[in-house]
Amino acid sequence: MLDMSARKVKGFKEKLADEVRFIRNWAENPLTTGAVSPSGPDLTRRMASYLEPERPGKILEIGPGTGVVTRAILERDIAPARVVALEYNDSFCQLLRRRYPDMQIVCGDAYKLRDTLADMPDASLSGIVSSMPLFSRPKEERRALLMQAFELLPAGAPFIQFSYALVPPIPPEPGLFTVQRSGWILKNLPPARVWVYRRRG
Ligand SMILES: C[S@@+](CC[C@H](N)C(=O)[O-])C[C@H]1O[C@@H](n2cnc3c(N)ncnc32)[C@H](O)[C@@H]1O
Repeated sequence: MLDMSARKVKGFKEKLADEVRFIRNWAENPLTTGAVSPSGPDLTRRMASYLEPERPGKILEIGPGTGVVTRAILERDIAPARVVALEYNDSFCQLLRRRYPDMQIVCGDAYKLRDTLADMPDASLSGIVSSMPLFSRPKEERRALLMQAFELLPAGAPFIQFSYALVPPIPPEPGLFTVQRSGWILKNLPPARVWVYRRRG
C-alpha cells in the first residue's frame, strides 16, 4: 500500500518536472518547442495506435520532447531497441538518454532527415511517429520533410503526425500519397487530430 503511494508520488513529481522543463524550453524557443506542455495520454495513445508493429523494421520517433509519445509506443509492446528517437533540443536529448537507456537517441535536425540519419537505409523503417511543430515552418519545408521521411518508409507504411489545426499539416497529393485523419481528440489540451500519410507504391 505504502509502496504504491510512494510510486504515485514519484510519478506525480516526474510529471511536474516534465511540465516545468517543457514550459522553460517553450519560453526559450517557442517555435521549435511548439507547445507549452507535453501531449496528453489520449493523443499519445492514438498516435501509437496507427503503428503496425508486425511490419519489419525500426520505428522512428521525431520530436519526442520529454518522451510521452515514446512511452505510448513502448506500451504497444515495441522493444526500446527497435525505436530511434530524433530530437533537436539538447536538454530533451539528455533527459531521453537517461530515461530510455536502451533506445537510440539522435540529437539533430529532422528537416535535414537524410543527412541526420545518413546510415539509415532507404525503405527500412516500419513507421514514423512525428510530433514536429510543422506549422512553424513554410509549406515547402513541411513537404520536403515528408518526402525525406517517405524515402525511409516502404510504400504503405505510416507517417503519423499530430496537429491542432483544422487543415492538414501537409496538403494532400492524391497521386503521390494517401492521407487519413482521426477525429478530434477533445481530451487533449488543446484538442488535436492525428494525420497518417502513406506513400503510394
Ligand atoms: C510539440 S513538441 C512535442 C513533444 C512530445 N512528443 C509531446 O507530444 O509532448 C515538439 C518537439 O519537436 C522537437 N523539434 C522541433 N524541431 C525539431 C527538429 N527540427 N528536429 C527534431 N526535433 C525537433 C522539439 O524540441 C519538441 O521536443
